[in-house]
Amino acid sequence: MHHFIGLFYIWLLITMEEIKIHDKVFVPYISFEEIEHAIKRMANTIYSRFGNERPVFVGVLNGVVMFMSDFLKQYPGECEVAFLQLSSYDGTQSTGDVKRKMDLSVDLTGRHVVILEDIIDTGNTLEALYAYLKAKPVKSVSVGTLFFKPDAFYKELEIDYIGMSIPDKFVVGYGLDYNELGRNLPDLYQIKE
Ligand code: IMP
Ligand code: MG
Repeated sequence: MHHFIGLFYIWLLITMEEIKIHDKVFVPYISFEEIEHAIKRMANTIYSRFGNERPVFVGVLNGVVMFMSDFLKQYPGECEVAFLQLSSYDGTQSTGDVKRKMDLSVDLTGRHVVILEDIIDTGNTLEALYAYLKAKPVKSVSVGTLFFKPDAFYKELEIDYIGMSIPDKFVVGYGLDYNELGRNLPDLYQIKE
């Protein structure tokens, strides 16, 4: 049985192939199945903190769509959801200049707000979003991210919930893009250097 699983895994590695997006090559990195496990753990942890206090999950478009959709399906309690759009990335580089392209449509007065990010890299986006939400009359603001790059992060902010920590290398898939392509890949791919 063990041999069978081992062989199956090797077969899986061989059949999962490199992909090319624009001018760059990416290799398979984290499977959708592993991502789902991490999301389930996060949903249960966040639920154990908020229970039925009806938190509002705030997501940043477009990267967070896949994560938010899978996260909500795993969250076992009452909750609401809101989105906004921010942008700081140009190609594979964070520009450090975060622009808000869209405003929140939900009234957050007296609410527990949980920022849900697909990925936290330098922390520029998070810092801007955190300050924007903290300035509102909310009850609390906390932060969860599916992927976290600890070696790139340079802010003082606390990240309350982390799905998976990954090295400081550019990734695509599971909602994350390279110049708008690659978001629809169910698995996560890492840039080949
Ligand atoms: P930060 O402001 O540097 O923390 O970057 C956060 C945003 O940049 C994320 O919400 C993503 O949209 C994007 N981003 C950061 N790292 C990656 C990556 O490796 N691949 C794709 N997008 C990324
Ligand atoms: Mg994003």
